[in-house]
Amino acid sequence: MDTFIIEGGRRLCGRIRVNGSKNSALPIMAAALLTRHPVKLRGVPDLADIRNMLRLLAELGCHRTNEAPGAPDLSTLILHSDDESQSHARYDIVRTMRASICTLGPLIARRGYAKVSMPGGCAIGDRPVDLHLRGLSALGAHITLENGDIVAKAPPGGLRGATIFLGGPFGSTVLGTANVMSAAALAKGTTVIESAACEPEVVDLARLLNAMGARISGAGSPRITIQGVPELGPVDHTVMPDRIEAGTFIMAAAITNGDLTIENCPIDALLAVTDRLTAAGVYVQPAQGSPDDGLHASVRVTCDRVLKPVEVTTQPFPGYPTDLQAQLMALLCIADGNSVITERIFPERFLHVAELARMGARLFRQGPTVIISGVRHLIGAPVMASDLRASAGLVLAGLAAQGTTYVNRVYHLDRGYEKMEERLRAVGASIQRIDEKEAAEH
Ligand code: EPU
Repeated sequence: MDTFIIEGGRRLCGRIRVNGSKNSALPIMAAALLTRHPVKLRGVPDLADIRNMLRLLAELGCHRTNEAPGAPDLSTLILHSDDESQSHARYDIVRTMRASICTLGPLIARRGYAKVSMPGGCAIGDRPVDLHLRGLSALGAHITLENGDIVAKAPPGGLRGATIFLGGPFGSTVLGTANVMSAAALAKGTTVIESAACEPEVVDLARLLNAMGARISGAGSPRITIQGVPELGPVDHTVMPDRIEAGTFIMAAAITNGDLTIENCPIDALLAVTDRLTAAGVYVQPAQGSPDDGLHASVRVTCDRVLKPVEVTTQPFPGYPTDLQAQLMALLCIADGNSVITERIFPERFLHVAELARMGARLFRQGPTVIISGVRHLIGAPVMASDLRASAGLVLAGLAAQGTTYVNRVYHLDRGYEKMEERLRAVGASIQRIDEKEAAEH
């Protein structure tokens, strides 16, 4: 297990480019199961979760046909579902990656049968899939739980369109919307998803499906309408840039009082984030020569010397994203005053709180709310967190802290950020990756 060693206190300056979105790419890759034609995907990030999804798809008869010899470059993938005989997503893979659940809808819709291991809880909470199952049942799927596997069968004649309400106690569900929308693309008749997730990743998936011949309207709003079609065809699609990676880099600039230009930044998908950051004294402005396109902009990030405290509540899109909560908390640890963060999507997603406290942060948690009393400096310390975004928050804290921070178990971070240390180093950070043996010597 690798560790990052960070010498804090260096300003980040220069240019950094955002990669394709993990959370967009995963359901999009699963959608390759909906067709026997090739699905070409560009801008896919090289991450552990993406490789796990490739492994899972290969077990389900959907192979990568443009594998390069030697170290494979994942940035362009051609996926081809040429063997539809195996429809079992095994626990071995599902337990390493919850997004495996995205294969459920495409498998039932295309093959009439799916067996997908039920995902368990994870570090950020229980994470049920009841809404996914409710939506697919409404399309006529018969669903049972057998030995820890979700077993789903389409009715004779295939799935049928229906009106489905996907609202749950914390709003809608992103991957649940992806599952139902993908399945409904091949159902007979019209499906209306009410209380659909509005996240940009759902819009990206709808763009892919429509380019394959689906008839989907309303993606990005709470009502999505899908006219089912009998077949989907080949496609060549570029995955949208990762709004969470972009937000993390914006905060890396801010926490080091730096001056970063962030390229390929989906700024229109980050309005709630830039709103809160502006209130804190962080400025995110179009860079000179930025493409006139809110999905691939170049933005320049600068900030006031002293950050102001803010109040933030995580919400479904277009609200402030839970996936940038830990990073913002790290930033607010050094604001001048008391900030308040309330987590409304995953109320237990606070693995970073105790670790930030080890670095001298003053945090008081009560249920889903954390009060952050800003301190002048964070102090380097050994830390770790078993959640991807919590780990990103700790890296940011390490960049700002006085002295040396050891962020252990960076494999969590590697699930969501490609070569983070190399990219941060290129803009001035002092950050090294060491392996377990080297870590033991420190
Ligand atoms: N929920 C239910 N029932 C369901 C599904 C969800 O009650 O059937 C609840 C969840 O427990 C949670 C809320 O609804 O309280 C929202 O969960 P959602 O289903 O939207 O989450 P997800 O689709 O499983 C995706 C991202 C997460 C991100 C969330 C919220 C992917 C692969 N994952 O998960 O990303 O936090 O949406 O935006 O797209 C990450 O990248 O670090 C990450 C965890």
